[in-house]
Amino acid sequence: MKILEVKNLITQYYTGKKMATVVNNVSFDLFSGRSLAIVGESGSGKSAMALSLMRLIEPPVGTITAQGIFLEGKDILQLSLKEIQEIRGNRISMIFQEPMTALNPVFTIGEQVMETIQLHQQVPPKEAKIRAIALLNLVGIPAPQQRMLAYPHQISGGMRQRVMIAMALACGPSVLIADEPTTALDVTTQAQIMDLIQRLQVENNMGIILITHDLGIVAEVCDEVAVMYSGSIVEKSSVKAIFNAPLHPYTQALLDAIPPLSGGVRRLRTIDGVVPPLSDLPIGCSFQERCPNVQDRCRASKPLLEEASGGHSVACFYPLQDGVKS
Ligand SMILES: Nc1ncnc2c1ncn2[C@@H]1O[C@H](COP(=O)(O)OP(=O)(O)OP(=O)(O)O)[C@@H](O)[C@H]1O
Ligand code: SF4
Ligand SMILES: [Mg+2]
Repeated sequence: MKILEVKNLITQYYTGKKMATVVNNVSFDLFSGRSLAIVGESGSGKSAMALSLMRLIEPPVGTITAQGIFLEGKDILQLSLKEIQEIRGNRISMIFQEPMTALNPVFTIGEQVMETIQLHQQVPPKEAKIRAIALLNLVGIPAPQQRMLAYPHQISGGMRQRVMIAMALACGPSVLIADEPTTALDVTTQAQIMDLIQRLQVENNMGIILITHDLGIVAEVCDEVAVMYSGSIVEKSSVKAIFNAPLHPYTQALLDAIPPLSGGVRRLRTIDGVVPPLSDLPIGCSFQERCPNVQDRCRASKPLLEEASGGHSVACFYPLQDGVKS
């Protein structure tokens, strides 16, 4: 079932007198029980896109426009502030990269999980406490009753991220956005957290948007991938097709940049050249300065994301053929 439909999302940040368009005409669908990875270099607009879906970008910071962001059929752009607050954390939830900044240091874990539950559900404190303990148990926190009394700094980074996941899941959302949920954690804890997210996704039939730099995680966990570059989706397909036969030269460069597995770390290496400043994008294709296949046409007009073959879309005038440079 389609639970999220994003149509032509444009997100702009106010930067001094100018507006920077950081998400540029992004469209995609998300289905329940499925996971979509968003990959792309730093600054490509991944977090801005995620925050837009939560309607967390508002004046004076920035603005969001779209033909619609339909969550379970309802356009969240048409909702009042009160209505969006009811939906946020309830039907659509987000977990962030660094849980220490998202948790309040002066309240205990228990107080914060209980508050999240009571924000959306009319339950007495006793019941909220029982549910909070059950949630902490569900996300694999040992001795949850004792942990309820701990402050965020008294537990490990991995445990804090589990608390964040518990809070994100407190109300059984249909969409979970995870913005680099494991970047701050060691490799073993990363694997445990990803296992947990995957298990909870299946159990709760959630749709997941996973933002990550780690293509290893994408290959293991996700069904579909959208590759972002300078605020636009430049390629979108099943994980298998992206890895086996990328069509966009940027995707190919990302795949070429994966360090060997034996190196242990699978974060993307940087690729040659720099991302053009979003406030000053060139006319034509944003990737032109770094693209080995650039032609005159690429400098004259911007390629749009179009379907190349069943479910595989690319924004490039001269897509690669079967992953081999044409
Ligand atoms: N509050 C803000 N005001 C103005 N510009 C911002 C703001 N937050 C982010 N930006 C800019 O928006 C662009 C997109 O940033 P975003 O955080 O979405 O990138 P990202 O793809 O999530 O990068 P990363 O992988 O580093 O997390 C960047 O150019 C960034 O500098
Ligand atoms: S449109 Fe042209 S410059 Fe852009 S990625 Fe394709 S070949 Fe390269
Ligand atoms: Mg980000």
